[in-house]
Amino acid sequence: MLWSKLITEFCEIKDLNSKNAVMVLNHGGEIIRNGGLVAFPTETVYGLGANALDPVAVKKIYEAKGRPSDNPLIVHISHISELEQIVAEVSEKAEKLIDAFWPGPLTLIFKKKSCVPDETTGGLDSVAVRFPVNEVARAFIKASGVPVAAPSANSSGKPSPTRASHVQFDLDGKINMIIDGGACEFGLESTIVDVSTDEICLLRPGSVTKEMVEKVIGKISVDKAVLSSLDKGETPKAPGMKYKHYSPKANVMIICGEADMVCEEINALCKEAEKDNKKACVFATEETKDKYNTENIIVLGKREEPESIGANLFKALRKCDFLGYDVVFSEGFEESEVGLAIMNRLKKAAGYHIVKV
Ligand code: TXA
Ligand code: MG
Repeated sequence: MLWSKLITEFCEIKDLNSKNAVMVLNHGGEIIRNGGLVAFPTETVYGLGANALDPVAVKKIYEAKGRPSDNPLIVHISHISELEQIVAEVSEKAEKLIDAFWPGPLTLIFKKKSCVPDETTGGLDSVAVRFPVNEVARAFIKASGVPVAAPSANSSGKPSPTRASHVQFDLDGKINMIIDGGACEFGLESTIVDVSTDEICLLRPGSVTKEMVEKVIGKISVDKAVLSSLDKGETPKAPGMKYKHYSPKANVMIICGEADMVCEEINALCKEAEKDNKKACVFATEETKDKYNTENIIVLGKREEPESIGANLFKALRKCDFLGYDVVFSEGFEESEVGLAIMNRLKKAAGYHIVKV
């Protein structure tokens, strides 16, 4: 579809208590109430916001991102009291999760109330709700005066944006405003848990880990799409999990196994790539970075602190495009705690191309 190019305002908030911040947030809120699009920071990734209760505004999100219209949006609130406006019921277990993790990087799926339009939920009778902890996000939603529907503020298929500059790169001229609140703390999208039925299910892993959730409400199930690619005809419970995601232009391959064997295999793969005249890059960690024979290394973070790897992953995937790599060889990570979310995103970036040594 063709749209006339918008002028995208770029506004930075350094101090939330400054006069400038108040002006920026009030202006952004006004844009949302008038049916426009504003990108804003959260603790996970940047979101692309619109009035969640306005179907015309919500449609603009799909156009700007190039997002399939059957992929529902998460509705963001700035206070727990806004929940009852949009959801039909909150189970006991859902309440426990809310008490334990809100505000924070956890999205919960509830049965929706009729005021939430089909455009926001992709025609589903449920709605995803998130109460972010990031202060700029909360002040912005509050200034909007309405619940804010917001997917990640990237072009569909690209890695989620963890910096305002990533949003600008993807969406400049397609949205009304970008609020720059610095780098996102967690860097991976929120954990999604479906609490709309009795069988509580993890639909997308994130920084609130499965282990953390199970400590509060006991065993939960995990949607198959979290761990592996789906067979033909199978559908994930979170429609967005079926789309190719996070993919840089380079072919990504994950190498799993004992640390020294992984480094050896990656060194051999780099040599082969060089022979084929392919520009190769290694995703390494602080612990392993000195074991490679190439200078094209991106250090994701410390294995000792997996959160640091989560925070850098999307930035690293974007950097691969920027530097024009043809192939990326990434070390694998254990699929527990935050590692489950890291591997979920990496596997998608790699199109499930995993080698075990
Ligand atoms: O951290 C986050 O969650 C970020 C920030 C901006 O809050 N948002 C985000 O939104 O990652 P998005 O649109 O990129 O991913 C939302 C995911 C999609 O996979 C979508 O299919 C799923 O949530 N989802 C939304 N509503 C749903 C529903 N009612 N039932 C099942 N899945 C749903
Ligand atoms: Mg997304």
